[in-house]
Amino acid sequence: ESEVPSFTASKVSQYSCQRKTTLNNFNKKFTDAFEIMAENYEFKENEMFCLEFLRAASVLKCLPFPVVRMKDIQGLPCMGDQVRDIVEEIIEEGESSRAKDVLNDERYKSFKQFTSVFGVGVKTSEKWYRMGLRTLEEVKAEKTLKLSKMQRVGLLYYEDLVSCVSKAEADAVGLIVKNTVRTFLPDALITLTGGFRRGKKIGHDIDFLITNPGPREDDDLLHKVVDLWKKQGLLLYCDIIESTFVKDQLPSRKVDAMDNFQKCFAILKLYQPRVDNRSYNASKEFDMAEVKDWKAIRVDLVICPFEQYAYALLGWTGSRQFGRDLRRFANHEKKMILDNHALYDKRKRIFLKAGSEEEIFAHLGLDYVEPWERNA
Ligand code: CTP
Ligand code: MN
Ligand code: MN
Ligand code: MN
Repeated sequence: ESEVPSFTASKVSQYSCQRKTTLNNFNKKFTDAFEIMAENYEFKENEMFCLEFLRAASVLKCLPFPVVRMKDIQGLPCMGDQVRDIVEEIIEEGESSRAKDVLNDERYKSFKQFTSVFGVGVKTSEKWYRMGLRTLEEVKAEKTLKLSKMQRVGLLYYEDLVSCVSKAEADAVGLIVKNTVRTFLPDALITLTGGFRRGKKIGHDIDFLITNPGPREDDDLLHKVVDLWKKQGLLLYCDIIESTFVKDQLPSRKVDAMDNFQKCFAILKLYQPRVDNRSYNASKEFDMAEVKDWKAIRVDLVICPFEQYAYALLGWTGSRQFGRDLRRFANHEKKMILDNHALYDKRKRIFLKAGSEEEIFAHLGLDYVEPWERNA
């Protein structure tokens, strides 16, 4: 007899694009531990073990019930020995000693701090760690370090950038983005993508996809947008990556490849006057001029040709794991190559056009998965 009659473990696909994963995670206890393990392997550049834990976390996130005994994970995909050991310990002890050891590990703690800075990845963290640096305080005090511009602003706006972006802030920035883009391209289609499109209430940045229906393209759009923000005093940082897309190029086979769209990684100044009752009364001690009335916010703007919009939208909506599994599924199950630009059928040797995400799923022979069900 089973508590959830409609659920059959052996029917859970190994591909998250064949599962529905909402934000309602019954197994956070387990998936948090797996994600800590995965991150530690990422810091060690052990991609295989990292992916093993990310896939396991993703499988448990789609379960419609909390795992309470080992029998509950029987028959599920991606449950290797390392994973099962951790599940067993959490069931028995309430927590994982291996995940706890990672959280207390000096190297992990340093990498966690270092990579929390915008512009600092595993490579830079490795370098700093090898130099004997352990904390961000030590990094800031080390005057001989050559920091990139990205890393300097990352440290400058650190507190704002590590504090999460709310949906309200995402909507406020959305209005600014729409207003500015439409000043130059009145018919532009501007879509909130990333985690917020998947229904998340918080994020580490805000992602927008921009396209212009019709044939007209404007290679200068992003430059005009950031120039206007500069003039308005709203731009704290921006790095524009020019498009490297070549017409008729085959989709990239790399599972984590960057796409070739023109894009801009920016930091915007979002004004948010804080109404603080104390400021009206305590006029002497409280100087309004010293209250910071803005927050630095990371914004990603991506611009794509209209005919690639559906593919770009699917790619930029994520989650990262969902995207990885879509490409892996296309490759291994359908002999097709998918990236953020196109879908190529290797057997028929043709590109499959799509005007919507639904059409892409249909090309792949997949049931449609709504954005809020892609939180794999
Ligand atoms: N993405 C991509 N190409 C990039 C960068 C990101 O296709 N060069 C995809 C990622 O795979 C992800 C989505 O765009 O699925 C959004 O990326 P990101 O902002 O990093 O993640 P979110 O899911 O939005 O989560 P967060 O709240 O942390 O921003
Ligand atoms: Mn994002
Ligand atoms: Mn992210
Ligand atoms: Mn992003």
